[in-house]
Amino acid sequence: MKRCAIVWLLALCLLLAGCGAQEAQEARIEEPPILLGFSQLGWESAWRLANTQSIKSAADAAGVTLMYDNAEQKQERQIKAIRSFIAYQVDVIAFSPIVETGWDNVLQEAKDAGIPVLTTDRMISTQDESLYAGFIGSDFRQEGIAAGEFLIEKAQGRELNIVELSGTLDSTPMLHRAEGFREAIAGHDNLKLIDSMSGDFLRPKGRECMKVLLEKHDRIDVLYSHNDAMTLGAISALEDAGLVPGEDVIIITVDGEQAAIDLLKEGRINCVVECKPQIGETVMELAEKLAAGEEIPRYTYSEERVFSEFDDDLDAIAPRGY
Ligand code: AHR
Repeated sequence: MKRCAIVWLLALCLLLAGCGAQEAQEARIEEPPILLGFSQLGWESAWRLANTQSIKSAADAAGVTLMYDNAEQKQERQIKAIRSFIAYQVDVIAFSPIVETGWDNVLQEAKDAGIPVLTTDRMISTQDESLYAGFIGSDFRQEGIAAGEFLIEKAQGRELNIVELSGTLDSTPMLHRAEGFREAIAGHDNLKLIDSMSGDFLRPKGRECMKVLLEKHDRIDVLYSHNDAMTLGAISALEDAGLVPGEDVIIITVDGEQAAIDLLKEGRINCVVECKPQIGETVMELAEKLAAGEEIPRYTYSEERVFSEFDDDLDAIAPRGY
């Protein structure tokens, strides 16, 4: 809105100053670049690094000026970054919220300053839906459902004990991947979810949690892990315990990092549910619309697929790039 008004005002001034319609039109076309404030939540996984890279290169390609901050896994730091974007009067604010709750105050400040907000990758939970314009990212519930559906097919009615490694508590992927998985296996009494621990989406924590789970339970048949980083840590713990991942324990993971796809090809992972980090281009398109005062869809989801041992040709999977 603000940007549009400035551009039209400039064109009007040129007209009043005696310029012709053509010059005014040219002035209108040469809009200043959009200033986008983007707060990334951290560096916890290869997925996250690819997501950051996608945002940065898409901003370059679209001619968007990016004010970037990495919050290193701290919500307070994301809030601080958003406040600095407001102070700089950026055109649009985008951020990937580390957790769903606790954003109302700072987003009210953005709203009061007339700056539209886009949440990327993760969502927020608020009573006031007017605090953000829209969301762009993955359908995490669908990812959880896909993981459950693979397991139903793999189990063929066998009784299986499942453990879950979940992501950061109160984060959208943690909540929705858990919900979708439970929804898919509901009514399949042969599939028993016997334990769930949060590994915070981190590889070392995935390893630690898996060790604890192995000590706690006599029989674990399935690991459902909310991201590849934790899965890689858990696999090393399983191997240390003398177990063969993919055979002794069915491994289902989410993300689709190259390392996970390589283990799928080796038979040490059974199923990889894709979660796409490359959302930068769409983020820029939506930010441009918001800067122009246009409406955007409330939810924009990435198209994603499942890679599993049931696929005919795993060698045909293109390099993942992350
Ligand atoms: O929000 C997306 C999730 O966050 C990815 O699955 C994970 O790797 C990252 O930490």
